[in-house]
Amino acid sequence: MRLRPPPRAVLLPLLAGCLLASCLSCTGGGSGGPATGAPGVGDRLFPDAGNGGYDVGHYTLDLGYDPASGRLRGTATLTATADRDLARFNLDLAGLDVRSVTVDGAAARAGRDGTELQVRPAHPLRHGARFTTVVDYQGTPRLLTDADGSHEGWIRTDDGALALGEPVGSMAWFPGNDHPSDKAAYDITVTVPHGLTAVSNGELLSTRAVSGDRTAYHWRTSAPMATYLATVAIGHFDVTRSKTPDGLPLYVAVDPRSDDTKTSAALARIPEILAWEEGLFGPYPFASAGAVVDHLPRGRVGYALETQNRPVFPGDGPPPAVDPVTLVHELSHQWFGDSVTPAAWQDMWLNEGFATLTEWLWQQHEGGPSLDASAAAAFADSANWAFPPATPPDAASVSAPPVYGRGALVLYELRRTLGPSAFGRLLKEWPAAHRHGNASTAQFTAFCARFTSKDVTPLFRTWLYGAAKPSHL
Ligand code: TRP
Ligand code: ZN
Repeated sequence: MRLRPPPRAVLLPLLAGCLLASCLSCTGGGSGGPATGAPGVGDRLFPDAGNGGYDVGHYTLDLGYDPASGRLRGTATLTATADRDLARFNLDLAGLDVRSVTVDGAAARAGRDGTELQVRPAHPLRHGARFTTVVDYQGTPRLLTDADGSHEGWIRTDDGALALGEPVGSMAWFPGNDHPSDKAAYDITVTVPHGLTAVSNGELLSTRAVSGDRTAYHWRTSAPMATYLATVAIGHFDVTRSKTPDGLPLYVAVDPRSDDTKTSAALARIPEILAWEEGLFGPYPFASAGAVVDHLPRGRVGYALETQNRPVFPGDGPPPAVDPVTLVHELSHQWFGDSVTPAAWQDMWLNEGFATLTEWLWQQHEGGPSLDASAAAAFADSANWAFPPATPPDAASVSAPPVYGRGALVLYELRRTLGPSAFGRLLKEWPAAHRHGNASTAQFTAFCARFTSKDVTPLFRTWLYGAAKPSHL
């Protein structure tokens, strides 16, 4: 789904690389003529994220990386459909030098304005037209710092690099429509010096030697994927390929320096955890699974990320790099976040609330704290009451405790209202209803209202939207 674009902003064209941007924003917005695609999709918290005017169906990313210099060379081929007549459209790209842009094979004019790459095709695009954009680029990709101070984008490691993209880090390594509402399929090929491994999303189609001393890894993601879930990990990895008892291919890559007995014991439980989560949430949504554990500079990344097919765990702290509860959390995101993706960043509680509830259910299943005890602890924690989960106040809040703890309490209260068996059915039917798509908070509450004859309005008003902390659980 697409959000309503904001009013057209005044753009200040900046010159970038060797391209001349001759006032790309001056024309195309007049009455009647083909329009300029908006520089954002209208996300309340991230106004510049994504772009208006088109929907990407497929990305082909051909990347070459040299760990010694930290330089990336890329060719991004985007197949998209125009959702209006377009004289010009934007892609999101942070840093890097754009060498050329073509649209449908013809040279296009390109300009830069902050993280907006502005493209004017030689010929305006018609509403409904499928078009192909090729962007040639290179440079040293950036490490980005988010509003909450955490790092994402391109993280250099001592033997390669790791790309992480939540919320807006994919623009550090490829040009695209960097908003969760525009999901697409991907072919990602990464060429690295011989001896290094390049891991990405989806399935590894081929590994081949290139010009003697380099190796190209071609990964294909056929199921729709949000840009923030795309990843590349380059370095030395011990790779284990196996299958779950159901035949699901697993690809687990562990940096030998982040390997410890607890991490390998946790990773060995992936088939068991997936089977347990399938029992709760229905069929696993993707064609493969796994994990990536990468050794990072200490303190660089303080979080794991639910990158599609195989979540990434940072080996930048004391061991273990992976514990079962974090693994359960990231694997539950394959249903909640990766398959059913938030329509906008303010809907993030739909990811983290479900993933946190899954942790509570797992701990109970493992003989740890009961679900009720976990809910009581979250209720008692004042950090969870800074704002209502449905309305994070700003960009820095999308990863704040209320999105996790209070988000899970919304679901806990829903379970109480519906009863465990109806709630158990909802845990399967919600991800089935939006499989490989997007969903908003309003769609979730409407789904719940249709799902049950009980009145769910008061519980959402109090727990999801209410400013005040309820007097008791
Ligand atoms: N999604 C990650 C997790 O599973 C945490 C995270 C990293 C995050 N970056 C974010 C959450 C940005 C929201 C926004 O816990
Ligand atoms: Zn999470």
